[in-house]
Amino acid sequence: MDRIKIKGGRALAGAIQISGAKNAALPLMVCGLLTDERLMLDNVAKLADLATMAELLAQHGIAAEPVGRTLSLGGAITNAEAPYDIVRKMRASILVLGALLARVGEARVSLPGGCAIGTRPVDLHLKGLEQMGAQISLDAGYINAKVNGRLRGAEIMFPFVSVGATENLLMAACLADGQTILANAAREPEIADLAKCLIAMGAQIEGVGTDRLIIEGVSALHGAHHPILPDRIEAGTYACAAAITGGEIVLRGARMADLGAVTRSLLEAGVEISETDKGLQVKRLNGLHGVDVMTEPYPGFATDMQAQFMALMAVAEGASMVTETIFENRFMHVPELNRMGARINVHGASAIVRGVPFLSGAQVMATDLRASVSLVLAGLAARGETIINRVYHLDRGYEAVEEKLAACGADIERI
Ligand code: UD1
Repeated sequence: MDRIKIKGGRALAGAIQISGAKNAALPLMVCGLLTDERLMLDNVAKLADLATMAELLAQHGIAAEPVGRTLSLGGAITNAEAPYDIVRKMRASILVLGALLARVGEARVSLPGGCAIGTRPVDLHLKGLEQMGAQISLDAGYINAKVNGRLRGAEIMFPFVSVGATENLLMAACLADGQTILANAAREPEIADLAKCLIAMGAQIEGVGTDRLIIEGVSALHGAHHPILPDRIEAGTYACAAAITGGEIVLRGARMADLGAVTRSLLEAGVEISETDKGLQVKRLNGLHGVDVMTEPYPGFATDMQAQFMALMAVAEGASMVTETIFENRFMHVPELNRMGARINVHGASAIVRGVPFLSGAQVMATDLRASVSLVLAGLAARGETIINRVYHLDRGYEAVEEKLAACGADIERI
């Protein structure tokens, strides 16, 4: 099994090209189910999760063929079942449910179940589709859904913000009969990107970028060519790499607005960030200060940046409190960071981080995608050698992480 070895202590300097966003690419690939025509997606990163989505679509009858950085999707739906073996690898597989129902009137999708960062139910996805006229039953670990005729438009008020449920229902609503209103919808940039692609495919959507999406269903969608937006979490992660090593990195293609509250927290911590037409320039010349953060839906501080920011706070001056409000079990990086000399205590949904002058290299274990990359950041700053085990988590969401960091002077290799 691959491991990553890092010799820490080098200030990073250089430029990193930010890849297309994983969390945008996943629902955008599902749009391939919504039309008989060809859908072309540009700026698609090479990531394990996207390969899993391609595998899922292939067994529904939709081929996803890479042509350089472009993914060409096309085919006809031949099978409406998303099997356990694929869904268990990646929870985002649930996103095919609404699209299959809208296109072929039925779907059988394995229940995703829990995952390392929490129980993560899909009740909002199912309730919304029921409101749109689907009949849903659960049996043998599968969601069985069907609808007589077309899905109908409905007014759906989410009790709390869910990125996945917003995406699933948005896609389904585009082909429903009549108007759908999604209220308290998620506003993540990836959702606006999905809406843009759907509009290019002929969908009628208003309120893009707000928490109230109004969709007039149409009878069919056509092909389109859509460029995927840059990955704001990858950009935020490499901003932390510049900050934790006291270096300076240009994040090519990154956009400040996509980072939401993460930018403010980095600035408060003493990191300098400026936007140019090429992307973001991130540097740290002076010391880091402890800053409190609380994860929230966009534009609040992203839960997908929590572990990386905590690694940064581990070497900041003073204390910081990191509160996780989105997932109930997202502090698995804490014991690993503590093995490297960090002083972090978890109390319920909050972690108190008492900054230390330096971290020390150690053998550590990756537990999920963002936890893994927080250990890479810690390793870059630590004295001595860090070995990170189970790096397959990293490959789910970071393209060429060692190459990108090594190009900025990091001593990092895969072994
Ligand atoms: C997406 C992102 C993930 C990110 C998360 C929050 C993708 C592929 N993944 O995940 O990287 O961390 O948004 O920004 O885009 N919930 C329910 N019932 C539901 C749906 C969600 O209780 O039906 C809960 C979840 O357990 C979680 C919270 O709502 O506690 C938010 O989850 P959600 O926004 O749906 O996250 P995902 O779409 O799974």
